[in-house]
Amino acid sequence: MVLYESVIESIGGTPLVRVHQLAAGLRPRVYVKLEYQNPGGSVKDRAALGMIRAAERDGSLRPGGTVVEVTSGNTGVGLALVAAHLGYRAVIFTSSQIAAEKIRLLHAYGAEVRLVDAFVPKGHPDSLGAAADRFVAETPGAWRAGQYDTPANPAAHAESTGPEIWADTGGAVTHFVASAGTGGTISGTGRSLKTLSRGAVRVIAADPAGSSYSGGDGSPKHIEGAGHTVHPEAEEDVWPQSFHLDVVDDYLTVTDREAILIARRAAREDGILLGGSAGTALAAALRLAERLGPDDVVVALAPDSGRNALSTYYDDEWLAERGFVFDDSDAPTLGGLVDAPAPRVATHLTVAEAVARLRLDERDAAAPVLVVYRRSDGEAPIPAADVAGVVALDELRKALAAGAGHDLVREHASLAPPTVGIGRAPDVALAGLDAAHPDWIAASVLRDGRIVGVITRETLVAHSVRSDRLAMAR
Ligand SMILES: Cc1ncc(COP(=O)(O)O)c(C=O)c1O
Repeated sequence: MVLYESVIESIGGTPLVRVHQLAAGLRPRVYVKLEYQNPGGSVKDRAALGMIRAAERDGSLRPGGTVVEVTSGNTGVGLALVAAHLGYRAVIFTSSQIAAEKIRLLHAYGAEVRLVDAFVPKGHPDSLGAAADRFVAETPGAWRAGQYDTPANPAAHAESTGPEIWADTGGAVTHFVASAGTGGTISGTGRSLKTLSRGAVRVIAADPAGSSYSGGDGSPKHIEGAGHTVHPEAEEDVWPQSFHLDVVDDYLTVTDREAILIARRAAREDGILLGGSAGTALAAALRLAERLGPDDVVVALAPDSGRNALSTYYDDEWLAERGFVFDDSDAPTLGGLVDAPAPRVATHLTVAEAVARLRLDERDAAAPVLVVYRRSDGEAPIPAADVAGVVALDELRKALAAGAGHDLVREHASLAPPTVGIGRAPDVALAGLDAAHPDWIAASVLRDGRIVGVITRETLVAHSVRSDRLAMAR
């Protein structure tokens, strides 16, 4: 159908597009379902329409009512456009960390945006969710969409996304790959494909490395929308009811690096501009296809377009700042200069415990030690958000001598140091540090978005001088 009597009729019916270059040499046919061709630019238009229609049916949303949701992105846009068309007020609660463009986009559809900033566990009275609930309680006619827990979210996909894939492949689809955020897409689409194929279609969740859905510790990742993160101080990890675990046959984990690389390659080699979570899904689909045969048909769902990511995954400077290096140039980097793994001490320790546990060479007693949340207290690279501060062994010893042994380490920590990408040349890193953080004596070094070590200003200065001299000698 190409003639629509309203914008909401044009939601759904997105194309399935064959991937050629990236799938070259693989036996199955691999397709992506381009959900960015929905009017609001993402798969979330479907859930937004489904949730609003269900609320109208059950009477929780009435004419003149207000649609409320907590979202940092696509769901807000979907709700804003459906609300605009149907004459509802839309109020979106989000964090001021989100890109200014996203706020402008919501404003463009006439939605109101409430910015709430609090890095607190789910359910905390200062959380975004609590702020939205208070607003709903105080506002007559307000209704919170609740994408994480409402059955209307997966139902929207069971009614539209799944049947479309089945019909468009003529029933030939054998594997469906999608990421899970709320879980609505994979649960509804997967359920419907299983029903239509009498259980034959396999459903694979493409999950960002670190997401707790596939067994990770819930630490933050750079791919937005996909996977499940857990606040470092949360007491329990609550999963959304929109995610129906019984639908998923298998999980494939995909690192931020792999997802970004595949998304970038899809744009350059296949002319398909994918968002980050679409990169996650396609990366998993391609890996899966390596072990399948010529009769298999793999469909990966692309929730949104790379247009939303031009200033992130497609921006070389953004990538360099976070230590994503995709070319093999032999230019000097910080790689050989950092001590790995990064020295660290856990936030929950007392000063006395930390002094007893920190096994540092005496020469390093004044060196920066990262103060990290418990889950990052191993040897693995550290997500930047898990660093609560920085402290030196000398400072802890002084505190112990002054009788503060029972204090928590974090009470004696300074602010977390700035970060620098591992692919930077030492003089570039030093210039960046001088310009933005002149008082800092050290920086955390990121590789592929995680901290792998700490570098001191002293090391950078020494190395920059050395490379200057080398350059002069040449
Ligand atoms: C870009 C992007 N990818 C993936 C997802 C995950 O979809 P779902 O919430 O249906 O699991 C979302 C959800 O907001 C998203 O915005």
